[in-house]
Amino acid sequence: MSTKKVAIIGAGNVGSTLAYTLASKGICSSIVLKDIKENLVKAMSLDISQAANAAKSSTVVTTASTGACLRGCDVIVITAGLPRMPGMSRNDLLLTNAKIMREVIEEIKINAPQSIVIVVSNPLDAMVYTALKVSGFPRNQIVGMAGILDSARMSHFILEKLGYGAGQIESSVMGGHGDDMVPLPNFSTVAGMALTEVMTQDDIDEIVEKTKNGGAQIVKYLEKGSAYYAPAHATSLMVEAILNDKKEVYPCAALLEGEYGYEDIVSGVPVMLGKNGVEKVIELKLTSEQRTLFAKSVGSVQELVDALYENKFFES
Ligand code: NAI
Ligand code: 2OP
Repeated sequence: MSTKKVAIIGAGNVGSTLAYTLASKGICSSIVLKDIKENLVKAMSLDISQAANAAKSSTVVTTASTGACLRGCDVIVITAGLPRMPGMSRNDLLLTNAKIMREVIEEIKINAPQSIVIVVSNPLDAMVYTALKVSGFPRNQIVGMAGILDSARMSHFILEKLGYGAGQIESSVMGGHGDDMVPLPNFSTVAGMALTEVMTQDDIDEIVEKTKNGGAQIVKYLEKGSAYYAPAHATSLMVEAILNDKKEVYPCAALLEGEYGYEDIVSGVPVMLGKNGVEKVIELKLTSEQRTLFAKSVGSVQELVDALYENKFFES
């Protein structure tokens, strides 16, 4: 039986769905949920704990009333923040969510400085950067979720177009979690067959565009808030890989320390996840066009980070 403890800070749509996923599968022995909305977090803890009992899972779900409840956590997932609203870019969320991130990270530093932190809040790459700078933690300890989600969206669009291969599609997306993310058709397969073998270039181009727009498409339909089932499932894979020291490779947002030619900036890259968090950043052989697109995507994240510095965010 697992003896691992996970905290989820932010018990909104993504946080509560993640807690439900982890608890239903019994991936950890205890989950603490924390949110500034006291009634919401109590309701979610009760409902999800009862779901775990119905599922005969031994995961215990409780509410964190104070920061001290984070003590002993192996993994802490941060989904606290404002979601994206229709017409709102991920970037609009920057300063508001950066302030929330600082508050949350300061609590983690005091109570669970050994934990591995998974950031989900948007704008994702800039929030991972903020968490790293505010905490002073080494890069292995803080990682962002987006690439698994964006890849799952790409797989969905491939399936929709092909009409076969459900559950057998492996897609690959790099770069920041923004409009200029870099889907990688030449690193994507359908039942082991190269995507470029089973689809025309026009179809591939269409899938690349749909993938980049995947989050916004759901925001538009929902009218209020953004996607949460796929984001939560994607995050649960990362939690499981870290808790069980699985050394699995997933596209995740990590601080680059020379990889792909970049320093001191966060972007989505293939990462090996184990008990120490980001145990390795893997360097794919990109085409020159992909390197150019990746540079553009890194540049967009850099603009957000620059905006944080211009607003003297790290000085206050
Ligand atoms: P939500 O609004 O349903 O939940 C956010 C929760 O954070 C709310 O319950 C709110 O009370 C709480 N919160 C705010 N400040 C807090 C604080 N200081 N401490 C604790 N809790 C606090 O939003 P949702 O849909 O769950 O999304 C959460 C975040 O994740 C958003 O920033 C969203 O844009 C982002 N997101 C990122 C994805 C990714 O691929 N990285 C995918 C989906 C969402
Ligand atoms: C998504 O991609 C809003 O980042 C969120 O669904």
